[in-house]
Amino acid sequence: MAAPAVKILSWGTHVPERVVTNDELSLSLDTSDEWISSRSGIRERRIADDGEAASDLGAAAAKKALDAAGLGPAQLDLIIVASLSHDAPFPATASYLAGRIGADGVPAFDVSAACTGFIYALAAGRAFVAAGQATRVLVVGAEVVSRMIDWSDRSTAVLFGDGAGALVLGPAAAGEEGIIGFDLGNEPSGTELLKLPAGGSRLPARPETVAGRQHYLKMNGREVFRFATRVVAASAQRVLAKYDYDVSDVDLFVPHQANIRIIDAAARKLGLPPERIFTNLDRYGNTSCASIPICLDEAAAAGRLERGSLVLMTGFGAGLSWGSCLARW
Ligand code: UT7
Repeated sequence: MAAPAVKILSWGTHVPERVVTNDELSLSLDTSDEWISSRSGIRERRIADDGEAASDLGAAAAKKALDAAGLGPAQLDLIIVASLSHDAPFPATASYLAGRIGADGVPAFDVSAACTGFIYALAAGRAFVAAGQATRVLVVGAEVVSRMIDWSDRSTAVLFGDGAGALVLGPAAAGEEGIIGFDLGNEPSGTELLKLPAGGSRLPARPETVAGRQHYLKMNGREVFRFATRVVAASAQRVLAKYDYDVSDVDLFVPHQANIRIIDAAARKLGLPPERIFTNLDRYGNTSCASIPICLDEAAAAGRLERGSLVLMTGFGAGLSWGSCLARW
């Protein structure tokens, strides 16, 4: 018997108020608006206030998604948060977020798959509903990546931003397709190419790790770029083929917002015209797990996602991981 269909019931986002432009970054870094915008497509990003953590942004997005679904926090059966900038190594950011939205007693856990985390969290949430273990699942991508950034490293500091996006999942009505399926994968040969080296059990926090600046995100940009340009189109093609769809069926492609050149390369390989691709990285930079849900919210608000639209989402990031999701909006 086929698993029951699961659909996206509602969505919401929250981004910090503070806008930091490329010109502002150029005041403290040896960089320029010309370099950043031509190499990445990013023009500005949002940066959280000192007191704001991932669960604060995530909770604000979650409240909007719950309001849009007409649900209270007690009606949730599960909360899943995807993040690489957790409030703390533990407890789960989902536990903090549950407290902030008043979801007392609701099970809550985190998914850690770097920037691909949101797609993995979506797959997990869908699986819980399809298996009958939950009816309403809140899936959140929430990031304050700015805390993980070495603000003296121009090769990473210019790329990232903060924000959060949330979806509520639930059973689809009879005849509705909802979330169609996933393509998920990981290349462990690339684990060293993008990481935050210290603060875990391999390299615990010590005075030497702090002195050695080991608590900041490190990236081999060129290699990650090569990986991304290879994997985004390939994963998108795989998920379409797996569920018997063609690129021409896709109404909107929502890729992870890391670099416009990665998105353009994928679009060329897939043969997708610009009007069927959603981008907003010029305004937010790379918000890691939050990038895809923020795009979904903005695309829906702009009328580019309507009931029945076929949406293809593809994420990638540290791991090196990737994931695509095909869904009927
Ligand atoms: O979600 C996580 C996934 N992460 C990504 O997807 C990132 C993937 N990688 C990228 O997006 C690109 O590789 C970058 C945007 C990070 C870099 O672009 P690139 O065209 O690959 O530049 P590059 O690393 O080859 O660097 C070219 C030059 C270097 O100078 P030299 O060695 O040619 O003299 C860098 O030192 O640009 C220099 N550079 C900068 N110059 C001005 C690096 N960062 C900057 C900067 N401003 N911010």
